[in-house]
Order: sequence, then C-alpha cells, then structure tokens
Amino acid sequence: TIQNDIPDLYSVFKDYFPIGVAVDPSRLNDADPHAQLTAKHFNMLVAENAMKPESLQPTEGNFTFDNADKIVDYAIAHNMKMRGHTLLWHNQVPDWFFQDPSDPSKPASRDLLLQRLRTHITTVLDHFKTKYGSQNPIIGWDVVNAVLDDNGNLRNSKWLQIIGPDYIEKAFEYAHEADPSMKLFINDYNIENNGVKTQAMYDLVKKLKNEGVPINGIGMQMHISINSNIDNIKASIEKLASLGVEIQVTELDMNMNGDVSNDALLKQARLYKQLFDLFKAEKQYITAVVFWGVSDDVSWLSKPNAPLLFDSKLQAKPAYWAIVDLGKAIPDIQSA
Ligand code: GLA
Repeated sequence: TIQNDIPDLYSVFKDYFPIGVAVDPSRLNDADPHAQLTAKHFNMLVAENAMKPESLQPTEGNFTFDNADKIVDYAIAHNMKMRGHTLLWHNQVPDWFFQDPSDPSKPASRDLLLQRLRTHITTVLDHFKTKYGSQNPIIGWDVVNAVLDDNGNLRNSKWLQIIGPDYIEKAFEYAHEADPSMKLFINDYNIENNGVKTQAMYDLVKKLKNEGVPINGIGMQMHISINSNIDNIKASIEKLASLGVEIQVTELDMNMNGDVSNDALLKQARLYKQLFDLFKAEKQYITAVVFWGVSDDVSWLSKPNAPLLFDSKLQAKPAYWAIVDLGKAIPDIQSA
C-alpha cells in the first residue's frame, strides 16, 4: 500500500512546473498501487511505450489506439496533462516502414517513406484531436527521438539512410500541419552533460529554427547517474534554452550503478535535491519535469539501480524527502 499521508509531489511544485511520469496502461487500474501512487503525486503522464510507432501502427494502415486511449482517458479522469512520445524513433518502429512493399528485402524509396511518415503522424495527431477535442490532455509531442548519436552526428538510422537529413524537418512540418495547437519537441539523451552532444543539439536546433521549422522545445531525457555533475546540467539547460525554446525534462531517472547502500541512497538524495533546486531556479525555461517510471520496481533499469523517488515497495525514499521537505529529510542529506 502507498503512503497517503505524505505531500503530493505535484502540489509541492505547483508554482514551478507540472511533475510527470511514464506509465503503462496495464497498471492504470485503481486497484493497482502503482496507479494510486501515480494519481496522488503526478499531474502529467507520458506513455512509456503505448504511443510509439510499433504500438500505434504495428502493420501498415492498421492503427491500434486502445492502449494509448486508456492512458488519455485516465489523464482526463484525473485532471492531468500529457506529453506525446514519440512520432519518430529508430527503435520500436516496425520494419515495414522501411521496406519496399513488392520486395521486403529492398528498402522503400524516399518518397514512400516520407509518405508513410506523413500518414503516421497525421493519423496519430488527428485521432487524439478528433476523439478528445477540447478535452485532449496532450500538450505536445516528441516529434523525433534520439536522432543524434553519441558523437553528436546525425544517427545513421534508416530514416537518415533512406530520406536524408531533411527527415527531421519533414516530421516537424507534418506534425504542425496535422495539429497546430501541439508544442513540438526534439528529444534526446546525454545532452545534459554539456559535452559534444549538447553542442550538437544546440547546432541542430539553431539550424532548424533558422530554417523556419516549427519546433517549440527540446526534451532533455536526463537518464543520469548519482555521479552526474550538476554544474554541467545547469550549463546545458542554459545553453539550450538560449535558443529561445522551451526545455522539458522528459525521462528523468538517476542510476545508482548497482550500489543501493544507505550511503548511496543519501548520495542520490543529495543530487536529486541539487537537481530540483536547479530546476526551480531555471523555471523560466523548464515547462515540465517527467520521471521515467513511478517506482523502482517498474523502472526500465534493473532493480539494483533504484533510480526513482519511490522504492520497490512504493515507499518514499530519501530522494523524495530531499526534494519535498528537507525538514523531514534524513539530516545527512544536508551535511555531507
Ligand atoms: C529512450 C526512449 C524511451 C525509453 C527509454 C528507456 O530514452 O526515449 O522511450 O524507451 O529509452 O528504454
């Protein structure tokens, strides 16, 4: 059972930004304690998998929205917003997108892949716009995900190979055409360490903006570790925000690299505290902070890494208290 007598995260941060969480529709029934924790603490949802291309269009032309709609219905019922994730990625996208229909061993042509991309994006955005109308809780979409590789080059994906680098601007244009009310994001990992990928993201978004591409923001996934450097995170947020775009923290978690000793949990708490102090200080840029999972037992990272604010029994960890109310936090969080 969950702790009902502790502060709701979203209320604690209500003057700053919504606090979101990635969810799976199979756990969104009220009897499941994960759903109870979700409803208590969060006011924004993102589908962990249910809105990815392989979930929404497993075979060409056959769109399946049931799981995605469950999350949207839940968000509406609980007065939450949503982020859409994601319209284009190199993972969790079915092979058929890239295949020549008459001979699957051959690649699709550029024109066909662009047409399929447009159909996918338009159908998905139309669905939520039409089905939910003014109730639609989705405020924006990760239009493209992880398009940069670790060296900061455009990832050598099938999107790049078949279409060329302009697949990115096309995706944004299709999304804007389909639903101009949506905020459109480029989302990526490892752009919070003020390194080569941060610079590459800066250069790419600068170029897109100069070309008039309808892009509103940068999603910083922020899969970080307890050894991450807060000064680099601050510099990265400020550098990317200087382009005049919104920043959303889209997939936050903090890997403990297998050491879940008490000392390590306190170290995690201290870094979470520094991180949220930073986010609060940068609130003019940051329009959402989203955790990648509700509790450690359902994280994509294996259990010994305990990356979230609630443990595998759904109880608040030192990291929770560190960002919510330092008065109640274990004293060592402040000192060491
Ligand atoms: C990437 C994706 C997410 C999720 C994570 C972890 O960051 O954007 O959707 O799949 O990897 O698996």
